[in-house]
Amino acid sequence: MNEQAFKDQVAIVSGAGEGIGYEIARQLTLQGAAVLLNDIDGELAAKAAQEISSEGGVCIGVDGDVGDHRIVRGLVDRAVAEFGRLNIAVANAGLTLWDDFLDFKPEDFNRVLTVNLGGSFFLSQAAARQMQQQGTGGRIILMSSVAGNQSIATSSVYAMTKKGLEMLARSLVSELSPLGITVNVIAPGATVTPRTLKVVPDYEPIWSQVIPTGRPAYPSDIANTVLFFLSPGADHITGQTLIVDGGWSAKSPEPKSQYVDKTK
Ligand SMILES: NC(=O)c1ccc[n+]([C@@H]2O[C@H](COP(=O)([O-])OP(=O)(O)OC[C@H]3O[C@@H](n4cnc5c(N)ncnc54)[C@H](O)[C@@H]3O)[C@@H](O)[C@H]2O)c1
Repeated sequence: MNEQAFKDQVAIVSGAGEGIGYEIARQLTLQGAAVLLNDIDGELAAKAAQEISSEGGVCIGVDGDVGDHRIVRGLVDRAVAEFGRLNIAVANAGLTLWDDFLDFKPEDFNRVLTVNLGGSFFLSQAAARQMQQQGTGGRIILMSSVAGNQSIATSSVYAMTKKGLEMLARSLVSELSPLGITVNVIAPGATVTPRTLKVVPDYEPIWSQVIPTGRPAYPSDIANTVLFFLSPGADHITGQTLIVDGGWSAKSPEPKSQYVDKTK
């Protein structure tokens, strides 16, 4: 891809103080976009934006909880105030809160829905309103998960929100295509991030045993895919979900070889 492929583009990336969102914000900035980097942790947002800017791009850090729709609207207003317009919104922020289905608490249920569904819905809405006002079209990316496509123990609420986002993208095709706005979804598989490494220190070797490509994803794998959907080459793609998981969810456990039908 052209080194300045996103020159003159303005982007918001939510939940980008570290992990996948950080790398998306970094790559967009390196390729010329001006990026508003959001995180609920204000110190992390400022540090991340400063690090990314030190590589030569334009990036500002803005704290705020995307679970509050007024704050989300404020992110769009701030991007427009700083950079004059908005072309790209990446609703990356998501709460990975897993627990046994039989024990799941109503307050946790509400929080996961508010952040994962509400945060992405209202960022998409505020961004699309701005893009409509500009008359420029635009791009929206939502962040699902393999958990929205595969049964994984203790992921029920998280999984439900992630599948919901995939349907949100499909639903929005009808209303946003006439405005020149595409909406696509990335569904990452196991990805090595500061959070996943904190929860499971040997995350990488553990997942390497079961992922067909022999390794988990790195944030760059997910960011590369996001940048493809944001590129002119993806102009005609909308309402789609792409699973980026090294083939993990494509493969089910197989029985022992003597039971496999090898009829020719
Ligand atoms: N890491 C994985 O293995 C994986 C796999 C599948 C899907 N995903 C999805 O990809 C996205 C990014 O994943 P990650 O692992 O990098 O994220 P993460 O959990 O590491 O969080 C990234 C950042 O988001 C911020 N954040 C959390 N809640 C927020 C809120 N309400 N408002 C604003 N910022 C908030 C955190 O402070 C953190 O700095 C999420 O939507 C996640 O569900 C991740």
